[in-house]
Amino acid sequence: MKSTIALTAVAALAAKVSAACWSQSLGYPCCSSPNARVEYTDNDGNWGIENNDWCGIPVKGECWAKKLGYSCCTTTTKVEYTDNDGNWGVENGDWCGIDDDFGGDDDGPTPHYPDDDDNPTPGSQYDHNGKNPFAGHEFYLNPYYVDEVDKAIAQMSDSSLISKAKKMKTYSNAIWLDTIKNMQTWLETNLKGALSQQNSTGKTVLTVFVVYDLPGRDCHALASNGELLANEGDLARYKSEYIDVIEEKLKYYKSQPVVLIIEPDSLANLVTNLENTPACADSEKYYLDGHAYLIKKFGVLKHVAMYLDIGHAFWLGWDDNREKAGKVYSKVISSGSPGQVRGFTDNVANYTPWEDPTLSRGPDTEWNPCPDEKRYLEAMHKDFKSAGIKSVYFVCDTSRNGHKTDRKHPGEWCNQTGVGVGARPQASPISSMDYLDAFYWIKPLGESDGTSDTSAVRYDGYCGHDTAMKPAPEAGQWFQKHFEQGLENANPPL
Ligand code: BGC
Repeated sequence: MKSTIALTAVAALAAKVSAACWSQSLGYPCCSSPNARVEYTDNDGNWGIENNDWCGIPVKGECWAKKLGYSCCTTTTKVEYTDNDGNWGVENGDWCGIDDDFGGDDDGPTPHYPDDDDNPTPGSQYDHNGKNPFAGHEFYLNPYYVDEVDKAIAQMSDSSLISKAKKMKTYSNAIWLDTIKNMQTWLETNLKGALSQQNSTGKTVLTVFVVYDLPGRDCHALASNGELLANEGDLARYKSEYIDVIEEKLKYYKSQPVVLIIEPDSLANLVTNLENTPACADSEKYYLDGHAYLIKKFGVLKHVAMYLDIGHAFWLGWDDNREKAGKVYSKVISSGSPGQVRGFTDNVANYTPWEDPTLSRGPDTEWNPCPDEKRYLEAMHKDFKSAGIKSVYFVCDTSRNGHKTDRKHPGEWCNQTGVGVGARPQASPISSMDYLDAFYWIKPLGESDGTSDTSAVRYDGYCGHDTAMKPAPEAGQWFQKHFEQGLENANPPL
């Protein structure tokens, strides 16, 4: 099959005429970069001047191959051939042009997709050394997400939406290791991809993974119940088939910075839901044991920084919950000694705005003094310090909190209408909050929070509420409508 593809493709290539952007068909060369200065604009496009002649300024992400009579690759395709026109891949037995041929522009880092033939060798040990783990690195682009967005674009016809969607491909988001199998598929591939990018550019590349497979996962809800149950046998599997394997791979890829987001929602459930939810009481032992185990293992790796999840403002923000949280989290961190934890992550997969000045403590907020993520982190920083926790830094998930959603109650968490992508991933976003390490996209926009199919085993009533979009696929599956709304309501706009 491979040789058939190659032959067809070579024949196709031989036949193709040479041109790289829209201006060549008009008899003008293309400018060397999409960032060239615009000297003149007409119906054909933007014109620049190079070598004393007009040149057409290529459009970022323009599908140049179409103009040559080829289709554009629709997925994250391996580069099979490169010529003056750009990078070519093969799909369905024919050549296709790989988009974004003008990498390295101002939109963000150039994607570097892992490749089967890539076997980069790690260099010397990287050490975060107490510095902000997000600062000073390129952020790795998640190829799985780029692929999801490419497929989403293929279903769109509105050009302004397509252009917003294309921009999403230039931002980094976290890679979820949500089953043993997905961990086996995605962990090493992406560590390798990041390493080979790092080796080729000489710039450190940060990869962010979400560790998410505790026994009895998502004990207070149903939508994200996991593969491992709250029992000793599954705890043993969590340790040997999941945590130990992650540790082994991380130890090998030691020359690159890594961030681990640890088990979203789990410890917050131990703060508030032990008494009212039997499944959480049953899971407590495994959550605690699992955390102690993984902190001991990952917390001694110099190139790895860990953040434990603290839910969001409308979960642990109340005074009594914050106080209890101080106790639970400091106990968990001590149990993992000598492993170290960098800090905490908030708002993962949630919709709470970063700032919402319309809200203050009172009946409207059920007397929560922390009605937005900013006030929540300010309070948590103080309280965790008083609880004796030494390293208190935060990463706030801003992948879906750009726009106030339609939810009537801030406890609504499932696929909310009115979603908008929020602040772009960045290190040290607020100068007055030196303990805020980053805004980062942890839950990929467009991946569902839970199914709205009432007959599904993991159907949770929240995914049937009024402000939950329907019909919604299973948690983690692609949800086109959610993605499109998130683009439309982006703040800042895309
Ligand atoms: C799901 C995971 C998924 C993650 C990211 C969670 O809600 O349970 O399976 O990987 O979201 O979309």
